Amino acid sequence: MLIRIDPEKCTRCGACVADCPIRIVRMTEPGPMVAEDDAPLCIACGHCVAVCPEAALDHAAMTAATCPPVDRGEAFTPEQAAQFLRARRSIRQYRERSVEPEVLVRLLRLASWAPSGHNSQPVEWLVLSGPSEVRRMSGLVADWMRWLETAHPETFRLLHLDRVLGAAARGEDRILRGAPHLIVAHAPKDSRVAPAAAITALAYLELAATSLDLGTCWAGYFSAAAAVFTPLQEALALPDGHGTLGAAMVGYPVVRYSRIPLRREPRISWRHGHSDRGAPGA
Ligand SMILES: Cc1cc2nc3c(=O)[nH]c(=O)nc-3n(C[C@H](O)[C@H](O)[C@H](O)COP(=O)(O)O)c2cc1C
Repeated sequence: MLIRIDPEKCTRCGACVADCPIRIVRMTEPGPMVAEDDAPLCIACGHCVAVCPEAALDHAAMTAATCPPVDRGEAFTPEQAAQFLRARRSIRQYRERSVEPEVLVRLLRLASWAPSGHNSQPVEWLVLSGPSEVRRMSGLVADWMRWLETAHPETFRLLHLDRVLGAAARGEDRILRGAPHLIVAHAPKDSRVAPAAAITALAYLELAATSLDLGTCWAGYFSAAAAVFTPLQEALALPDGHGTLGAAMVGYPVVRYSRIPLRREPRISWRHGHSDRGAPGA
């Protein structure tokens, strides 16, 4: 049985029926249920468990007792949320100290609450650690840049990669910034939802990192190289059929920022249906 109701607790309020994204929870005389034929459609998002105010509903993948309660006292105020979101910075100076494995696991667990298409959670992680391993990756990205200089000189020029290679020649790593860790998001190449899921999970990871006093930065050069450059793909040795969908440098930051830099005003265009003028929200 996909869902099980505690008849003592269930008030038949219908919250689980209304909130199921697939609309497979139906209200019946004894209470909410999912028909056996519909069960394979379930995406195990847990909304039926999460929305029940009485903790009366268990799902085969998660019981109410195993799902932590939402602590409303811990919610951000709008001001705290604005501070949190605006104070995150891309970190490009890292301490040599590596991050404890349990902290990295905590970070990646938080990232797994990112939304994903059909709740498929397709993203897997490869954590590369240690100066020599991260430097080896930077070296391979530099090789890709050298290849690009010949194969796609226009791109090389547009991205000012001569400066990145020049810095590398002086022993300065502008590719992975001397970070002690590189976390690579990967997934089966044939997953349609994985690219968006990986980007979203990495965004979660970056935000979660700030709450753990960690610094992160998107590894854009690395990700671009890993998408096309065979020597780097071979060095990564991802599971068969998997591709890199993004990566982040991670470590303890050297710098603390004192101010929030400005951003462009959002460019918004508004559109309403003709007959919606004057309607709520129009
Ligand atoms: C897709 C993507 C790729 C990026 N690649 C790099 C990179 O390779 N190296 C780097 O130092 N910063 C990289 N960044 C960080 C951006 O430069 C940074 O987000 C931007 O300058 C705004 O600064 P902030 O993140 O501190 O607000 C990347 C960001 C994104 C979203």
